Amino acid sequence: MKILFAASEIYPLIKTGGLADVAYGLPRALSDMDNDVCLLLPAYASVLAQVEHTCQLGTLDIWGDGRTHQVTILAAQHEAFAGTLWLAECAALFERPGNPYLQPDGTDWPDNAERFCVFARAVAVLAADQLALNWKPDVVHVHDWQTGLVPALLEDLPERPRCVFTIHNLAYGGHFSRELFERLHLSEHWWSSEGMEFYGGFSMLKAGIVYADAVTTVSPTYAQEICTPAFGYGLEGLLRSRAWKLSGILNGVDEVAWNPAHDPYLPHYFSAEAIQPGKTQNKQALLDQFGLGADDEASAQPLLGFVGRLVEQKGIDLILQAIPELLAHTAARFILIGSGVAHYEQWMNQLAAQHPERVAVYIGYNEALAHLLEAGCDLFMMPSRFEPCGLNQMYSLKYGTLPVVYHTGGLADTVVNATDENIAAGTANGFVFYRPDAQALSGTIHWALQHYADKNHWQQLQRNAMRADFGWQRSARAYLRVYSAVH
Ligand code: ADP
Ligand code: GLC
Repeated sequence: MKILFAASEIYPLIKTGGLADVAYGLPRALSDMDNDVCLLLPAYASVLAQVEHTCQLGTLDIWGDGRTHQVTILAAQHEAFAGTLWLAECAALFERPGNPYLQPDGTDWPDNAERFCVFARAVAVLAADQLALNWKPDVVHVHDWQTGLVPALLEDLPERPRCVFTIHNLAYGGHFSRELFERLHLSEHWWSSEGMEFYGGFSMLKAGIVYADAVTTVSPTYAQEICTPAFGYGLEGLLRSRAWKLSGILNGVDEVAWNPAHDPYLPHYFSAEAIQPGKTQNKQALLDQFGLGADDEASAQPLLGFVGRLVEQKGIDLILQAIPELLAHTAARFILIGSGVAHYEQWMNQLAAQHPERVAVYIGYNEALAHLLEAGCDLFMMPSRFEPCGLNQMYSLKYGTLPVVYHTGGLADTVVNATDENIAAGTANGFVFYRPDAQALSGTIHWALQHYADKNHWQQLQRNAMRADFGWQRSARAYLRVYSAVH
């Protein structure tokens, strides 16, 4: 099958969250299964700085916000990609430093509607082979609001390719005004409550849901949750009415990058068959790196970790509320890595300053530290209020770092609670709570620490966790079934 795969971030070129990991891992698995996959990404400044031997395939005149842009399509080479990688280059829209969606002060780039409308138009032109590259996809697979206009743009084409739209996070809707709708020259027949109109403006995410041939999201539980008011952001009715084309496919993880048996970021290797001494040696290295004491005494105490974007979704505030009580009543230590909302960053720094022997934080994005934390901790805290899939709990499972999670989305689909039944069945791999508040989190951590005290039992839970199969092959096969069904 020929698949055009367009996204606004792709690891390792540009990443703000799990979407980038998916846009790397899924196409690679699809290519390995003999599909012809072509990746398309905006040519952000930092992306251009990383690729080599770009060659110009052609230039398109594309209408934006009251002006026409020249968009050059580049074929690029990069060691991470064996297959075709195309970049949509438009200096005025994409060649700026930093985050692809946010200005340095943390607010949205004011021209985001224009940027991603122009990108979507470039995707549609290439999907129709209007640049005469002699490559016409059978399926176009696009992701999140940034590419939500693509299914609408393809709708009117004769002999159009089929279009699959994946929702990675319904919380980001790509909402813009009626004035922008007009200035972008979006077609009037899309302006209705049955189309992309949304509360007087328009939503690029809604456009994707309405006009795609199939809509997927990144876990089966989240596919059900988004059909309810609590998770639907006002789109639950629409999603329910489109249930016939909506499905949930759990993400995979990159099993080369995330494998404790040969992860280059780790000072010591380990596996389900030989967890020790490697796991404890990594714990000592992690404690040492964060100045929490690397002696046997320190490494005998439970170590709890967190990595993630510091936003309300991730429940970082629940962790920060629970920590003082846990410090008072247990011997646990905490290491937290993340960046995001300034208020959470300050709160984290404050806790670390108050408890320098037992709490350490790193504010920022750091791939190496994230790997070491996954390897060195005993428990990984992921009390997300909602989680479309979540990758970190899967990394934790693979690294024998038992996750403590709220029962939602992909967390509910991957973490099997350590109940007596699940322990007896040999499936238990973590600790689950059912109310998204700090008390439930802290109560569950106390309960997990009781399990931790029994070393043999703990190792069995770790082995259960480490043996889980989260390879991309299984997800890729499920996506191929969706592609075939719409084709
Ligand atoms: P989301 O996409 O909602 O942020 P996911 O769990 O799907 O959540 O993916 C997050 C990805 O980003 C993971 O690969 C995680 O390791 C990584 N990540 C997030 N914050 C950091 C950070 N501060 N340092 C390193 N990696 C991070
Ligand atoms: C989103 C979600 C996360 C998911 C990721 C990749 O950012 O918040 O749960 O794992 O996309 O699909």
